[in-house]
Amino acid sequence: MCGIIGYIGMQNASPILVDGLRKLEYRGYDSAGIAVKNGDISIHKKIGKVADLESILPKKIEGTCGIAHTRWATHGGVTDANAHPHASEDGKVAIIHNGIIENASQIRKHLQSEGVKFSSETDSEVLVHLIHRNLEGGSAPLTAVRKALRRIRGTWGLCVLFADHEAIICARNGSPLVVGIGEGESYIASDPHALTPYTQRVIFLEDGDLAELTPGDIRTSRMDGSAADSTVTTIEETWAEAELGDFPHFMLKEIHEQPEALRHCITGRTLGSEGTGKLGGLGLSPRELQRISHVRLIGCGTALHACQVGRLSIETLARVPALAHVASEFRYNDPVIDSNALYFAVSQSGETADTLAAVKEIQLKGGRVRGVINVVGSSIARQCGSGAYIHSGPEQAVASTKAFTNMVAALSLFAIQIGRARTLSRAQGRNLIKSLNAVPNKIEEYLANPGPIAEAVALLSKAKSVLFLGRGVSAPVAREGALKLMEVAYIPCLGYPAGEMKHGPIALLEEGSPVVVIAPNDSHRNKTISSIHECRARGAKIILIHEEGDSIAEDGDISIPVPSTDSMFTPLLTVLPLQLIAYHTALALDCDVDRPRNLAKSVTVE
Ligand code: F6R
Repeated sequence: MCGIIGYIGMQNASPILVDGLRKLEYRGYDSAGIAVKNGDISIHKKIGKVADLESILPKKIEGTCGIAHTRWATHGGVTDANAHPHASEDGKVAIIHNGIIENASQIRKHLQSEGVKFSSETDSEVLVHLIHRNLEGGSAPLTAVRKALRRIRGTWGLCVLFADHEAIICARNGSPLVVGIGEGESYIASDPHALTPYTQRVIFLEDGDLAELTPGDIRTSRMDGSAADSTVTTIEETWAEAELGDFPHFMLKEIHEQPEALRHCITGRTLGSEGTGKLGGLGLSPRELQRISHVRLIGCGTALHACQVGRLSIETLARVPALAHVASEFRYNDPVIDSNALYFAVSQSGETADTLAAVKEIQLKGGRVRGVINVVGSSIARQCGSGAYIHSGPEQAVASTKAFTNMVAALSLFAIQIGRARTLSRAQGRNLIKSLNAVPNKIEEYLANPGPIAEAVALLSKAKSVLFLGRGVSAPVAREGALKLMEVAYIPCLGYPAGEMKHGPIALLEEGSPVVVIAPNDSHRNKTISSIHECRARGAKIILIHEEGDSIAEDGDISIPVPSTDSMFTPLLTVLPLQLIAYHTALALDCDVDRPRNLAKSVTVE
């Protein structure tokens, strides 16, 4: 989603800004723009990729202070005019803004009635006119921004550039911003890893903070003018440069990174002899684990599917009631929070607005919430204060793959840990740990020989719609397979618990309809076979994901075996062919597999 980068110092700003924009590309966006202070402010913006913006940039833009933005359209279509930065009518002030201004239309009407001319349809543009008017009224830059923000209802990650002042003013409320501290230079970004090539020393702004950046100084303050916490954090984990290596796309690269990523997630977090998981970052003693009344897991999209797998592992292994919630529903449904329950916020980016808001709601009502997060130092990770990083490494493709497997693995470790604190025997725990530790090699084994994916792709790429079915832990895997294919290949897909199929989706089936069935050799297998027969009786063609050596293979028109494992961990293997199917179908249909249309990697608006 929208990305921000800004620089003030001694170097030429534009190469740093363009480089920063490239690092933010993975978030998903539809236009990009840059503003550099050089006497006046020169602004260049363009719909399309950062490369499209570069193609219209002058060879050299003089100036050592500038801001740049990637926009993911919310208010107003994808046009050059709606791209950020936005400037005041006299060009003396420019802003870039992430977030949503809820009262923009009232403010716009008011400003227009006073003669202000707008150049875009965006909600953000009101900010630049408000700030400009405050400056005209005699306010200093920081005060002008503060006063403008007092009139705004909504969320912001905001950077303001002034033709007549050597400073960038930044403000955060609900949309992340991190300040980078250099030698005689300062940076600002929405995403810490855009800064790590330049500095590891950062200040994470909190909601309600403002920062005034000058070449050698950073001053933070609160909306009421009081001092803000300006603790300097050193980012230890730098994200590797986004290199494709031998892979044509990030999605394929990340699918193939799963064995190594999974090793990073589980290494050092198991006690084989005790048969337990050891997620020390949760800060929960066995006694506390015993007292948990129930577990709630909250996430969106792929993270939600990982929560749905996790909740089954927790109930099965620890016999503790557990539920998974859609974050956007949870936050708005005035949830009843139980202080004896344990809440998990699960997120790859750690920036998803709905999940972050759910965390705040839980904390406000006295609940305990732990993060299961990929991006170190992200907003949700910091808001939770404790939790478990999943250590997938950077996920650049918009479609989440390796984060799913590591979320499932981290939640499985928790399920074993809480299970052992309650009813799970040492012998059971030891078997589970042994099986989990064996999964990375099994993923490698599968990826080396992925089965008849091409046959499945040939069938799916002609499909009007695709039904994905599974039971037990395979029901969320079915949903994940449907989400993956839908988001990268734009084919309408439904992911359903197999038993629900006859209550509606069966109406979709006709001669040749593809149905993807996930049927590992677990206690649900025979019931799933019945669902397969119900589909076949209506002419459906079955793409069957099953465990190696299982005679169920005969029930598929196209059968794709995965290595067998403990029934709790089958999602870590059955999801792999679904990821590959989505990837190859998207390619067959000539879709932009790493940057699917309309989607953003980091969904920072509600
Ligand atoms: C699907 C996908 C999205 C994300 C969702 C949550 O491939 O990427 O559905 O899973 O937006 O994102 P995070 O995990 O960053 O909170």
